[in-house]
Amino acid sequence: MTERVLDHVGIAVHSLEEAVSLYSPLVEADAEGRETVESQGVEVVFVGAGTGRMELLAPLRQDSAIARFLERRGPGLHHICYRVPDVEAALAEAVARGYRAIDERPRPGAHGARVAFLHPRTTGGVLIELLQPPADNSG
Ligand code: CO
Repeated sequence: MTERVLDHVGIAVHSLEEAVSLYSPLVEADAEGRETVESQGVEVVFVGAGTGRMELLAPLRQDSAIARFLERRGPGLHHICYRVPDVEAALAEAVARGYRAIDERPRPGAHGARVAFLHPRTTGGVLIELLQPPADNSG
């Protein structure tokens, strides 16, 4: 087995501005890489640049998955993300091991990454994201 590095921790928030002013001083890191992921109805910004950084997610639309999450559970921990060299292979492997995929195939994530999510029902209640960085990302 290859070890998987924690890439980021996803946190659902109502407002990116408010969340940045809350978390940035706490982890002593600036916000960077704000981006709209239109297909997911979400706007994201990262706090910190290294592995284990925070990904703050705010809804763009009321019918987005993040909006529904906020409605049900309020702001807070949404997912944890592991970096993989090949997300297609990692997803197929996970399904073969009995984990349920939310995504049948990987889809575009923020910053040109390709991502796939595993259903929390089969991962102990924790939404898991698998992320393959873009080819030009040195890490
Ligand atoms: Co994420």
